[in-house]
Amino acid sequence: MTKLERIAILTSGGDAPGMNAAIRAATLVARAAGVEVLGIERGYRGLLDDAFVPLGATEVGSILREGGTMLGSARCKEFHDRAVRDRARAVLRARGVGGLVVIGGNGSLTGAQALVDPDEAGPEPMRVVGIPASIDNDLGLTGLSIGVDTAMNTIVEACDKIADTATAHDRTFIIEVMGRDCGYLAMTSAIAAGADLALFPEAGRDEATVVDSIVDTVLAVRQRQRRSRRVIIIKAEGVAIPIDRLKALVDARLAERVPGSDPSVIETRVTVLGHVVRGGRPSAFDLLLGSRLANVAVRGLLAGATLKMAAWMPPIDLPDEIATRSPADPYCWLVDLGAVLAETENLLRGRSPLARWRAGAFDDIEDALLL
Ligand code: F6P
Repeated sequence: MTKLERIAILTSGGDAPGMNAAIRAATLVARAAGVEVLGIERGYRGLLDDAFVPLGATEVGSILREGGTMLGSARCKEFHDRAVRDRARAVLRARGVGGLVVIGGNGSLTGAQALVDPDEAGPEPMRVVGIPASIDNDLGLTGLSIGVDTAMNTIVEACDKIADTATAHDRTFIIEVMGRDCGYLAMTSAIAAGADLALFPEAGRDEATVVDSIVDTVLAVRQRQRRSRRVIIIKAEGVAIPIDRLKALVDARLAERVPGSDPSVIETRVTVLGHVVRGGRPSAFDLLLGSRLANVAVRGLLAGATLKMAAWMPPIDLPDEIATRSPADPYCWLVDLGAVLAETENLLRGRSPLARWRAGAFDDIEDALLL
């Protein structure tokens, strides 16, 4: 195994709070092992533009608690083209980079896998290790990705604020949260915020069923005593009904089911939290997660690992060909990148046991909330 002299780090795709903690830890661990570290600005786009910056203790000294990513990020659709990846490989070779740390989500890690695919990159490609970072928590074979905890805290804080005004007016709010095709953020923040209903794509409900589930919830809650008649519904953006259309359909149905009601009370209000969910200072947990995953990723890379992703999972038994537990951290694993991407696909298509469990668990929770 060749000893690495220089590694590079990039952040790619949607930024996630805690990415800076990962950049910092990756830099410090590599430098402590005598390895030079370069940062690549703006993800794969910056790589194509040869936008490298040196990273050391000074550069990463004050980034730990900052949201976003000090390296910048981008989405780079061109990376799907073989010719574009050839250019990227040439840039990395010219820079003498022997190992790459890719911090990002599904698309970013798919790019990392393609970059070192031996069919394209030759028999001895550079090494690559990924670190899961995406508020969507849509990656397989890791319990959590960097940024999820902060995003969930942000949603819960926003829901608490909305709940004050909802309670004052006995109103219903539908709050849309990010998460792309994955309902994890909507599900978990609904529990943590004490919401009355979570709408998420994994449930596979059609439009009419979604509308009915909201209307039934509103009517059930309205039977209660004042002060607990507010309704908070969290909708994942992956539920493909535009929120204004959903409001119009629900309001029309409520007017039908409760004729003569005061529209200012019975009508719903909607709030789209949008990019607010992705910003802000990382939670203490995301600082810890980013630091611990990066520690394991870089130690693995320096020890010869490639085509792996550092993952956060309890110390359970997994087959060795898929995952090996890091000797540096009992909760961190190095899992096979190909297996991660296959499991991610299963998760998003609702084919994995985890996706099925999540959807089923929420049916039970919904029943309990409406008692
Ligand atoms: O993947 C992270 C994410 O924030 C998703 O939740 C969301 O759908 C998407 O990125 C938004 O992307 P953009 O910032 O490019 O609009």
